[in-house]
Amino acid sequence: MMESYVADWLNLLLRWLHVITGIAWIGSSFYFVWLDNSLVKPTAPELKEKGVDGELWAVHGGGFYNPQKYLVAPKALPEHLHWFYWESYWTWMSGFALFVVLYLFNASTFLIDGKVHAWGSPAAAVLASLVFLVMGWVVYDGICRAFGQRAHGERIVGVLVAIYVVAATWVACHLFAGRAAFLLTGAMLATAMSANVLMVIIPGQRKTVASMKAGRTPDPIHPLRAKQRSVHNTYFTLPVLFAMLSNHYSMTYGAPQNWLVLTVIMLAGALIRQYFVARHKGRSDWGFFAAGAFLLIAVAAWLAPASDRDVALDRAPTPGEIRGIIEVRCQPCHNAQTFSKNIQLHTPELIARNAPSIYQQVVVARTMPLGNATAMTEGERAALAAWVRAGAPMETAGH
Ligand code: HEC
Repeated sequence: MMESYVADWLNLLLRWLHVITGIAWIGSSFYFVWLDNSLVKPTAPELKEKGVDGELWAVHGGGFYNPQKYLVAPKALPEHLHWFYWESYWTWMSGFALFVVLYLFNASTFLIDGKVHAWGSPAAAVLASLVFLVMGWVVYDGICRAFGQRAHGERIVGVLVAIYVVAATWVACHLFAGRAAFLLTGAMLATAMSANVLMVIIPGQRKTVASMKAGRTPDPIHPLRAKQRSVHNTYFTLPVLFAMLSNHYSMTYGAPQNWLVLTVIMLAGALIRQYFVARHKGRSDWGFFAAGAFLLIAVAAWLAPASDRDVALDRAPTPGEIRGIIEVRCQPCHNAQTFSKNIQLHTPELIARNAPSIYQQVVVARTMPLGNATAMTEGERAALAAWVRAGAPMETAGH
């Protein structure tokens, strides 16, 4: 009991931190993508003289701002230079810690689903999930290094990275429980995003600064490489955010072809992001937005549950039938000894008292039985729904 209570707090604090740092990171990242795409060439001769390549006027919070971008670097290094990286590193660290606490500490419950893949031991699944994260970066970085600097390199990189992401999604969904697979795929992309900052963008900026300090002309390859990675990060963002939120939506990760669901929704996210990137540049490419929205509607239609009529009951279920269902489908995990998430369902009183949560988890969110480990049928879900709607009658000791 106490242990799971402490774990809940750890979970809460890490998740809070993760969301805060994630907002700070993605917020500044979106801001700079917007800024870069909104800059106009300076007209004032003194700006051109200083080496300013683009500038912008904005008003925010009651003040007027005039950011200026120098091509490669300004002539002299300013005394105070702000670097953006802690947002990214903290997001990754808190996210990884959360993943460890939630999925790796409880690997047999959350990471593994026997119906998806029979792991020899939880440790093997844990190790595989870590390899999956590292591989994502190694392959992605390899593709960028091999093709990024060639003619039409950007297109080749885009196609190869997309193929790899689809393949990785397929692998994750065939090795891990659906919920964990979606999260892991998102974490793989997010790890690449953070590694882009740590391994490419920041080292490049350090080299630029070092050459300036040494009085040499900075090599323009560093800003080019950094720009390329930061463009990738922008397209990864919406897919990653969906994957991170997906664990609330069992209709997505619980679908039979869940790898395809994730692939299509991530693609929709990237297309919608493309629409906004183009819009910052003053173009209105509605086609991208429409394509993304179309894909989302298509997935929603595809996953729509069979109509209620298929499982309609011709009579209200009896309390005895309800107890029978709960005993077989829920009590293996919710009983006197193991009470997952403080929910016990081994007496009629407990079943009656928890009726609203049962309805929520079994009928609305469909997260229970966890991973449908006990193979609950649609008819049984419908029976529970009908029972709760009828006021959850139960012969308890007091009656
Ligand atoms: C394979 C084990 C397993 C089975 C079977 C199972 N549960 Fe759960 N249940 C869990 C675990 C683990 C949690 C905690 C989930 C979490 O923290 O996300 C949980 C949580 C819950 C919660 C609380 C959810 C919340 O977030 O507040 C309810 C309610 C619940 N289960 C009801 C049921 C019902 C009803 C059934 C049967 C239809 C069922 N469970 C079958 C393992 C199981």
